Amino acid sequence: MTAIIRATNISYHYPDETNDVIHNLSFEIKRGDWVAIVGHNGSGKSTLARAIDGLLELDQGEIFVNDQLVAQENIWEIRKQIGFVFQNPDNQFVGATVADDVAFGLENRHMPRNEMIEKVNEALEMVEMSQFAEREPAALSGGQKQRVALAGVVAMRPDILILDEATSMLDPEGRESILKLLQQLRQRYHLTVISITHDIDEAAMADEILLIDDGRLVAKGVPNEILMQGDRLIELGLDVPYGEKIKRALVKEDLQTPTEYMDSNRMVDWLWQKLNLTK
Ligand SMILES: Nc1ncnc2c1ncn2[C@@H]1O[C@H](COP(=O)(O)OP(=O)(O)O)[C@@H](O)[C@H]1O
Ligand SMILES: [Mg+2]
Repeated sequence: MTAIIRATNISYHYPDETNDVIHNLSFEIKRGDWVAIVGHNGSGKSTLARAIDGLLELDQGEIFVNDQLVAQENIWEIRKQIGFVFQNPDNQFVGATVADDVAFGLENRHMPRNEMIEKVNEALEMVEMSQFAEREPAALSGGQKQRVALAGVVAMRPDILILDEATSMLDPEGRESILKLLQQLRQRYHLTVISITHDIDEAAMADEILLIDDGRLVAKGVPNEILMQGDRLIELGLDVPYGEKIKRALVKEDLQTPTEYMDSNRMVDWLWQKLNLTK
């Protein structure tokens, strides 16, 4: 079985509501894949993440993580395998210093002190935050805070990393550097990554995109398929990136542009090539 997460016909409604927030959803996520979940605000993405972590009692269907049914009796076993990073880094800090913060989860697991210090150091090195170990988390930039949050998660050695709009509060530079870091962490720790995002460049990094609308899975495919849909991307809840905006402007001028999806860097490369050729 290569699927690390398998959901079959899951449905859920919040206790005081009548409508399904998740409606008869089925999908599989392959071990080691990077999967982006996109969709409008309110389409049920965070609820789905909670369901995978066993925080909800489903009305219907089942979720398996590592072939284990997500259910009350093995909830702690399941949660050990999943790490979360959320949108607002400020809500995630519990330690007085960066190092304390990264150590928090390990302390809860009663890891021997020496081993813990080693793990914390390794994690901080991995996210290039070693020199901030004794700083107060509050004094860090948004991007640095997310690095520390990632260090705390990675130190726990989860199989699955769920990013719930984890880059959405960062400026473009901070976002790019976190995405680069995520690629490294993913390789080094053989992570399966689920990124819930509105950022098209983040979605473009995925092996597969799941598109959720109103609690339903409305499309899935490789980024090239999903991201080629032009204006529909906005309808789908994605922010249209700079490269695509330029492409549309060129098309309006009747210029031939590549049909595949292009992030900003590829668009810049393509423009350079084009200019050289026609000089
Ligand atoms: N705790 C809750 N109680 C009741 N309704 C909720 C709760 N959390 C979310 N909802 C509703 O469920 C729907 C899906 O929310 P959510 O999963 O947060 O969507 P997304 O993450 O895609 O923005 C929304 O209509 C939201 O208002
Ligand atoms: Mg959400």
